[in-house]
Amino acid sequence: MARIAVIPGDGIGVEVVDAGLSVLAAVAAKRGLSIELERLDYGANRYLKDGTTLPAGEVERLRCEADAILLGALGDPRIPDMRHGREILLALRFELDLFINLRPVRCLADRLCPLKHKRARDVDFVVFRENTEGLYADVGGIFKKGTADEVAINEEINTRKGVERIIRAAFDYAKVHHRARVTMADKSNAVRFGHDLWRRVFAEVARDFPGIDAEHLYVDALSVAMLERPEALQVIVTNNLFGDIVTDLGAALQGGMGMAASANLGPAGVALFEPVHGSAPALAGKGEANPIATILSVALLLAHLGHKEAAADVEAAVERAIEANRLTRDVGGSCATREVADFIASAV
Ligand code: IPM
Ligand code: MN
Repeated sequence: MARIAVIPGDGIGVEVVDAGLSVLAAVAAKRGLSIELERLDYGANRYLKDGTTLPAGEVERLRCEADAILLGALGDPRIPDMRHGREILLALRFELDLFINLRPVRCLADRLCPLKHKRARDVDFVVFRENTEGLYADVGGIFKKGTADEVAINEEINTRKGVERIIRAAFDYAKVHHRARVTMADKSNAVRFGHDLWRRVFAEVARDFPGIDAEHLYVDALSVAMLERPEALQVIVTNNLFGDIVTDLGAALQGGMGMAASANLGPAGVALFEPVHGSAPALAGKGEANPIATILSVALLLAHLGHKEAAADVEAAVERAIEANRLTRDVGGSCATREVADFIASAV
């Protein structure tokens, strides 16, 4: 019995999670998987109603009681500083120590590839984004706020332990998946101390993987490589902020934000799965959001639970929807969210 906590969250999160759950139900029925869902109402509405982001003790409870968490999206124009988003999503990532944000960048059809002279098969790599430190650590402060002398400081935290474990995870992945190269992206030519640590640890860890080519790129050069020679990229490892940025670029290479899935993994049993996109308030409630990013996140979730065949079923069904152009408008179709989900669920 797999126990999955479901946090639809805000905006289109609700619609795409419904779509993801209907595909999950279809594949669970086909493969005879027993899955127990627990729906949780964390998000903007709950926060505005009673001030709750995540209740005290909730992270510990999820660690013990859930095998996976499926999250839609967080973000609401009524909460401009995104406080609830940080206190839910970043708290889950940090407190569950989900140090790997694994974001596959795979384009599934030539017509979805935005690059001239490139085909879908040229875009097939994964990004290992460090997920528990860097500039996201929330260390810093504001001095003389609101005055002309104001000083705002955000410290970037890079620990040897944190840097080493994400780099090692990237190499382990490359080894297991027969990928020949790991590319580490930093900005050590300007950010001298923290990113120097990344370079040294990368070189050290690479020595343990003699068969794998260890490539270093500055992150600005990586952005160009993603557009000019994506076929040369296989496994990318980078820090939290750079990983955030390059995976939005990666989403564009897959056909747009509606196509990009992610897994947040760590040493605890429980892991968190979510589309890379946000809550898209302008699109919310219209039933037009692309559910594929969430459905592919469900495939990652199934694989994490050990249900590799079920995960492959879901991916194959997504490919059928693309072939049949049973897609939402953002990726060239004319279907509603629900129609895409129903097609994929029945294709499963
Ligand atoms: C993401 C999002 C989050 C992040 C936001 C919502 C804090 O952009 O998952 O990529 O920056 O990590
Ligand atoms: Mn992002």
